[in-house]
Amino acid sequence: MSKYFMGIDVSTTASKALIIDAQGTVIAAQSHPHELSTPRPLWSEQDPEEWWTASSQAIRDVLKKVPADEIAAIGLTGQMHGLTALDKNGQPLRPAILWNDQRSGPQCEAITQKVGEKRLYQLIGSIMVAGFTAPKLMWLRENEPDIYKEIAHILLPKDYIRYRLSGAYVTDVADSSGFGAMDIGKRTWSDEMLAAFDFPRAWLAELCESQDISGHVSEEAAVLTGLKAGTPIVGGAGDQPAAGVGNGIVSQGQASLTIGTSGVAYAINDRYAPELDGRLHTFCGPIPNTWFHMGVMLSAAGGMRWFHDEFMPDQSYDELNQQVANVPRGSLGLLFAPYLTGERHPHPDPLARGAFVGLTLRHGLPHIARAVMEGVTFGMRDQLELLRSLGVNPSEAVISGGAANSAVWQQITADIMGIPLYTVNTTEGAAFGAAILAAVGAGAWPDVPSACAAMVRKVDFVYPDAAGIADYQRLYPAFQNLYPALRQTFVSLADYEST
Ligand code: XUL
Repeated sequence: MSKYFMGIDVSTTASKALIIDAQGTVIAAQSHPHELSTPRPLWSEQDPEEWWTASSQAIRDVLKKVPADEIAAIGLTGQMHGLTALDKNGQPLRPAILWNDQRSGPQCEAITQKVGEKRLYQLIGSIMVAGFTAPKLMWLRENEPDIYKEIAHILLPKDYIRYRLSGAYVTDVADSSGFGAMDIGKRTWSDEMLAAFDFPRAWLAELCESQDISGHVSEEAAVLTGLKAGTPIVGGAGDQPAAGVGNGIVSQGQASLTIGTSGVAYAINDRYAPELDGRLHTFCGPIPNTWFHMGVMLSAAGGMRWFHDEFMPDQSYDELNQQVANVPRGSLGLLFAPYLTGERHPHPDPLARGAFVGLTLRHGLPHIARAVMEGVTFGMRDQLELLRSLGVNPSEAVISGGAANSAVWQQITADIMGIPLYTVNTTEGAAFGAAILAAVGAGAWPDVPSACAAMVRKVDFVYPDAAGIADYQRLYPAFQNLYPALRQTFVSLADYEST
């Protein structure tokens, strides 16, 4: 019997393929980068062909380690929300519009008014945010009508790879929850939302559960990738729910903090209980009959990378971390507002921007670097507070993403959150989760929780320091005041961005 499982992750920065065995041992992993283009302020686009080139290359690479007929099933994951519009021949009509693209603010307002706030939150499990797929499709109708009228299919990024691998137009409920047109409680497309948007149902992919088999590798894709024709492909999940699986977050009470390009606080619920004001996302879980809550900040470790690349490019991250560790908590009274690419939670505002507040002559680059780390982490505390407001009160959490590679950032995070944090035995995140879903779909494990119990283990703990908790608890209200104090300033500054 075939005994290996493949996960494919189409992220914003790269496409990765990974192969695991039924015990979760990573046998091979390889990734190839993508370009991102920002043709105008607020825009963020990518060429779907690049996803395919990078994914198929990564698949060919990992198949050098494991023969294709030993792959029992494939799981897909990737950046969520990306609008991939195809014509009737399955050709992309324009570059995909990504999750961090902020152009569709006015469309979000219009649809919210039309459906009514409370009804919208109840149906889609969230406020409508500019990153979601559906408002971007409205934008396309209003701004690129010639392209809009050619549309025959809409897919999410990883589903485009499924289409190239199998010819199937299928998506899973966890990723499609971020489209903005599902009835999340019922795990189906919402006729009411589709009528309000006036989008044809025929454009949308068929929905399946994350662990269900959704299609099989075609003869044509087998030639292009080296995979065996007929290999089953499971539904998979968006990168956040797949990373939830990869981190072993599969039952109520467990939570994770992922501080990667974006920052996400994530927890599972076994019933559909959306936040009444839609202040965080409540989406279909990657396990049947579960839902997940998540708070998302758009720029997290991405903000730290920006700071490093622009201001300390000659220092290694180890040197940067050492300098940060030498600066006292609170960065000598310097705060950073981390909204470099607009924000989603708890301030859904495409015009929100970064800011340093409290600069004095005493501050040098190390203080500013620490302030960036602390500001991003306070932004993550905002996400955790949203979960807590729903009664999700984790006593510990998995930490993953770039922040998990830095001891000082881990300690800052434990102190700001006030709970112990731990890492797990794999850092492959979403791709690992997708491979676990494939293992369940192939029948190697009866369900996702038992697969995770066998494959995901807690490794290192970091505990909060009492003085650290107290110091940051005092500073947190000042951070919370930053956005309301600066909101009008961000509006005024927006006029200058395109000049
Ligand atoms: C989740 C989200 C991001 C993207 C990119 O809602 O927008 O996490 O999935 O990683």
